[in-house]
Amino acid sequence: MMGISVKGSIEKLETYKPNFGKSNLDNLIRLSANEGALGTSLNAIKALKSFSTNLHRYPPQVSEDLINAIAKRYLLKKARIILGNGSDELISIIAQAFLDTKDEAIYTEYGFLQFPQAISIAGAKGIIAKDNDLTANVDNILSKVNERTKVIFLANANNPTGTFISKDEVIRLHSSISSNILLVYDAAYSEFINHDEYIDGSSLVEKYDNVIMLRTFSKLHGLASLRLGWGYCSQYILDNLMKVRGPFSVNTAAMVAGIAAVEDIDFQKKSVAHNSKWMGWLERQLKLLNLSFQKSLTNFLLIKFPNQKKYNAQNAEKFLANKGILVRGMSVYKLQNYLRVSIGTAKENTTLINELKIFLENK
Ligand SMILES: Cc1ncc(COP(=O)(O)O)c(C=O)c1O
Repeated sequence: MMGISVKGSIEKLETYKPNFGKSNLDNLIRLSANEGALGTSLNAIKALKSFSTNLHRYPPQVSEDLINAIAKRYLLKKARIILGNGSDELISIIAQAFLDTKDEAIYTEYGFLQFPQAISIAGAKGIIAKDNDLTANVDNILSKVNERTKVIFLANANNPTGTFISKDEVIRLHSSISSNILLVYDAAYSEFINHDEYIDGSSLVEKYDNVIMLRTFSKLHGLASLRLGWGYCSQYILDNLMKVRGPFSVNTAAMVAGIAAVEDIDFQKKSVAHNSKWMGWLERQLKLLNLSFQKSLTNFLLIKFPNQKKYNAQNAEKFLANKGILVRGMSVYKLQNYLRVSIGTAKENTTLINELKIFLENK
């Protein structure tokens, strides 16, 4: 007898599996999810504590106050901002809104995992553009464009590699594609980036209707648990994404905390300074340990381990897990020799390096 069956494109998918460990979070050093090292802005926590009434009410469909706060903080036009239940939701609804089963969407070889996931769920065909040295490559992306291409997904800087492509390369990519291809420019880590050659994509959005920039409150703003992301795009994209988005997908707590977080410039400055200080420190320590890594502009580092049984990435991941340190294995990205490690607190970073030293000395 025939039973129910999911779409073929879903059947082949793997459920997303973060490395969060099984034990109580308080006993763990969690460097596996690129979360904010300094926690959350105290102003955001205060705002959340004073918010407790009216839980029986649905949230507003659109939080004008949060949109105004984002527009003010990032000097953007409020009419172009769309909120989502994390930028993950925005990635999904972009795929659902813009991709049909006959369409193709391009993503980069080591690009963020949610891109191929969202493309498959939408039932479209994902096309991989090869990276060069774990970095997106514009010529390789352009070589995959054809008349079926509807969307190009690019995370800049990218997770899990931490690498980025320059402003000139982003502009070259955009100017080489036709205006009926949507460029999804995911700038989740842009607030950590201070580099002359980087662009966050907002200027492209303001000039062209076929670009959407994605941002998140999960990294710099330390609100990953509340699920809050936003996009910056043309009216056409925004109106159509709102048709697909769950009507109340952004909850009231996220709205309240989001406003306080985005206005807390001091906390943001502290977090960026902490990140760059400890990124430099980790780079120096890894060099001393003879471990190579990708230069990263984000709040995490992709570390390469020797391809020898004893010192390989899988054994390092297990060793660290036994010490209560969670890092991200990369086999799902087919980067078996690598581990991705988020920048943590001072104590977490020093504990990580001390344990890595012990692991590598344990010959
Ligand atoms: C490149 C990139 N885009 C999007 C996201 C998802 O962010 P959110 O927590 O807002 O869904 C992440 C999270 O790791 C990411 O690395």
